[in-house]
Amino acid sequence: MKFIKNLLLLLVFIKCSLQQIQDPSFQRYCQRFNQPLTRYEIRSEGEAIPNPVGDRCTVSMDFPARDDKEAEIYCERWGMFVLVEAKADGNRVSCTYENVYECKDNFDQIRGMCYKKFHTLQNYTEAEEECKKSHAGAEILKLHSKHQSELLEAFFGDTLKMYFLQPDKTLEQSSQFVADESNDPNSNYVITYTYSIHYDVGPNTILKLNENVKAFAMCMYQPPETILSFAVKAKKLAKYYYPTQLVGAMGVWRTSSHYTPT
Ligand SMILES: *[C@@H]1O[C@H](CO)[C@@H](O)[C@H](O)[C@H]1NC(C)=O
Repeated sequence: MKFIKNLLLLLVFIKCSLQQIQDPSFQRYCQRFNQPLTRYEIRSEGEAIPNPVGDRCTVSMDFPARDDKEAEIYCERWGMFVLVEAKADGNRVSCTYENVYECKDNFDQIRGMCYKKFHTLQNYTEAEEECKKSHAGAEILKLHSKHQSELLEAFFGDTLKMYFLQPDKTLEQSSQFVADESNDPNSNYVITYTYSIHYDVGPNTILKLNENVKAFAMCMYQPPETILSFAVKAKKLAKYYYPTQLVGAMGVWRTSSHYTPT
């Protein structure tokens, strides 16, 4: 019995070492749902383009979609990963996501971007340094939309924290966002991900704080496009628009309605 158990462990170990690194953020995300439907497995089906080695899981969420199309809209909006299938199922939807992990240095991957949060209170300059040290090209979190902020909150929002934010001119600057109206040029921006203990503000609020106030660093960077991540995108687009083709030996995929291979 013990021998068989050890053999199984060995086989699992060999299997894991042969595979591309599994995405710890995706795994955590899937495990959080803890539904009977939840799976976490390596892709294996054969398709027109070579299968990138990635992870897949199906999660079930509370949402009464009328049909699969509506389920797809919901899964797309709240998914952090590539949506491959959406199904309406009574009062729930089941969303199947896939992901190829590209982030390095223990960054979490959400919608193709890499994020990492730190747990030491720092001032803005220190937080900036922390990001630079954590990965080449990483900088303090830059928010491009309220939706991005909602996704981050859904992913990281298990802690009562405020993170430094790099002001982004594209972000809506409503009074709802900037709680402190004072024009202090030295103040820093932070975003709260859940109700803060020290400041009575709601989640997803952007605040301007005095420069002496310390917060946490959340760093981000965009990973370089790889053959694997490109293949995932090509496959996804091909599903909706055009067939996908392997062009040349370098592994370039092209989707086109009027491209005829010779
Ligand atoms: C931030 O921290 C560094 C290192 O502790 C310190 O030298 C600097 O003066 C601080 N900056 C502000 C604005 O408090």
